[in-house]
Amino acid sequence: MHIAMIGTGYVGLVSGACFSDFGHQVTCVDKDAQKIAALWAGRMPIFEPGLEALVSRNAAAGRLGFTTELAPAVREADAVFIAVGTPSRRGDGHADLSHIYAAAEEIAAALDGYTVVIDKSTVPVGTGDEVERIIRKTNPAAEFSVVSNPEFLREGAAIGDFKHPDRIVIGGEDERGLQAMREIYRPLFLGGKAPLIEMSRCAAELTKYAGNAFLATKITFINEIADLCEKVGADVRDVARGIGLDNRIGPKFLNAGPGYGGSCFPKDTLALLKTAQDFETPQRIVEAVVAVNESRKRAMGRRIIAACNGNVRDKRIAVLGLTFKPNTDDVRDSPALDIIRTLQDAGAKVVACDPEGIEQAAKLVDNVELVDDPWTAIEDAAAAVIVTEWDAYRALDLTRMKSLLAEPVLVDLRNIYEREQVEGAGLRYYAVGRNCGPQEKPRQFADAVADLSVS
Ligand SMILES: NC(=O)c1ccc[n+]([C@@H]2O[C@H](COP(=O)([O-])OP(=O)(O)OC[C@H]3O[C@@H](n4cnc5c(N)ncnc54)[C@H](O)[C@@H]3O)[C@@H](O)[C@H]2O)c1
Repeated sequence: MHIAMIGTGYVGLVSGACFSDFGHQVTCVDKDAQKIAALWAGRMPIFEPGLEALVSRNAAAGRLGFTTELAPAVREADAVFIAVGTPSRRGDGHADLSHIYAAAEEIAAALDGYTVVIDKSTVPVGTGDEVERIIRKTNPAAEFSVVSNPEFLREGAAIGDFKHPDRIVIGGEDERGLQAMREIYRPLFLGGKAPLIEMSRCAAELTKYAGNAFLATKITFINEIADLCEKVGADVRDVARGIGLDNRIGPKFLNAGPGYGGSCFPKDTLALLKTAQDFETPQRIVEAVVAVNESRKRAMGRRIIAACNGNVRDKRIAVLGLTFKPNTDDVRDSPALDIIRTLQDAGAKVVACDPEGIEQAAKLVDNVELVDDPWTAIEDAAAAVIVTEWDAYRALDLTRMKSLLAEPVLVDLRNIYEREQVEGAGLRYYAVGRNCGPQEKPRQFADAVADLSVS
């Protein structure tokens, strides 16, 4: 099939490249001319493992192309995917749908022959109806179906997720559109079956938000249990394993840490709450999750200050990891940003490193010294703080760390080290949900963190 992918970001580029790898003819469209030029030159606009090889293989085979011109790509297409951004609208948390609606108008004007228009972006219930209305109004003669096909890929594992999905959700109101979707995903059918779930368009739209809200809830739940572990002297990793092996619960998303972040969970939980408000059906669990997570990120900054004996003024603090998780360069809404702001508010000088996220982080942080490697960051710092669990930070030479730090403090917000190992190297160790301070005084440390209030 001929596919036009409107929006060539994390989702559009990965989806477009994977569809071309299945054998479809794909044109990725983006307004950003620099991005399109870079792609033609073989340079990836994002860091995603395996993407460069996938893109270059399919571009060389002539199955994958890039353009800033939407109209010709749509005219030739049997299927047009909308994969533009839907960030939080400033001020109220609603999903900003301006890119979706602008794309719908442009698509409408270019439609030629029956085309299925698929919304892959994460959008609130009713957006498909509005896209259909816009297309009908702009081009009353157009023959088309509007289908919802939310994307569940995870940054850092995006290609594997796209090619081996747990499920593919398709929401549509007419058989012709649904049939086109079955054809697009047919390469994923094994033994005549694919994990394709068909439902109404609004159910598909809501499924994406419900899924992200549930995962955000799971993370927030274990984070609050971690706080309790610190008070009672338990290790949250034991508790997480103890509940995660129950297959009604499952072990994933039970790693206590600095709170969820990234380009999806924060904005999608907020947008779900706005939909709930619009339909006068409060989602109190998600409301609590959003509030708890928001305060947690700053609380992690205070935890670092407490580890530095309550004072970081004019001290250098080394932050290891800026992206919201490893294997991506995405820093959008990363907990690292709030942690850095809290440290700066308390007078710290922050120096930070990240294997892939420096370029993106430079656009989002002020007055932070950004360096390439952890050793430069750690040198003369009053504490080393692991915020993102990159592989490169999992086996740091702790003796070297001790010799470079001005004060022997390691704050591990991802629980990747063992206390004995760290303390054996002469460092003080602070983790999450595991007697977070020096082992003999868990309660006092937790209380000190709670008491320390830095605005
Ligand atoms: N990033 C993820 O992990 C992920 C996962 C699942 C779903 N989603 C959802 O997918 C959507 C896209 O997310 P993303 O992270 O890929 O966004 P992104 O910001 O990386 O990319 C969006 C792209 O769309 C382009 N664009 C905007 N308007 C356009 C137009 N009218 N014509 C052509 N191009 C246009 C922008 O220039 C940008 O390159 C969002 O709704 C997001 O919530 C994202």
